[in-house]
Amino acid sequence: MKKIAVLVGSNRKESINLKFAKALEKLAGERLQFEYADLVSLPMYNDDEVPNYPASAQALKDLIEGADGVLLLTPEFNRSIPPLLKNAIDWASRPWGKNSWVGKPAAVVGASPGVIGAAAAQAHLRSIMVVLGTVLMGRPEVYLQVKPGLFDENFDITDPDTRKFLGDFVDSFVAWVEADARRSAA
Ligand code: FNR
Repeated sequence: MKKIAVLVGSNRKESINLKFAKALEKLAGERLQFEYADLVSLPMYNDDEVPNYPASAQALKDLIEGADGVLLLTPEFNRSIPPLLKNAIDWASRPWGKNSWVGKPAAVVGASPGVIGAAAAQAHLRSIMVVLGTVLMGRPEVYLQVKPGLFDENFDITDPDTRKFLGDFVDSFVAWVEADARRSAA
């Protein structure tokens, strides 16, 4: 079972991106172990605080560094990623020279109630994660429109086509993480 650090860029209790993460976790079954990062406890990034690195930020770095892969789920706020997520990404990229993202197999997905499925946010997030050195899965891309009822109370996906599509995404991500583990062992 591969351990996956999961970053959900929403602090809403009823977040559709959190439900999306739980649905992916269920589709992955025994293949992936999702560990959800606590982004809400992080202070706003401040370079002055780096010498006294906050415990919450260190916990985030430890989670990422100890994981076999990273999954980022972004909402879209005004055509970009929410500050909650950017703040976490920035903390984990520091201190200088100790960027936790380097070499981590990663995937980006996102959901919104609208038809574009957080596409603009995901485009920004992909460019950030490439620059930070993750080994980013290029495809399949997932621009998920979440209408009420898409996820049931058990985080099962009610629409068969969407379930199949997201199942294929999970299969690809598992293969991506496992391929990286093989490369690292070689
Ligand atoms: C939004 N929303 C939004 N949706 C979208 O598709 N494109 C956008 O640019 C924006 N912009 C935006 C800005 C702000 C400040 C908010 C609060 C919301 C709507 C957004 O997709 C919706 O609230 C989602 O439900 C947020 O994701 P979570 O929190 O449900 O995961």
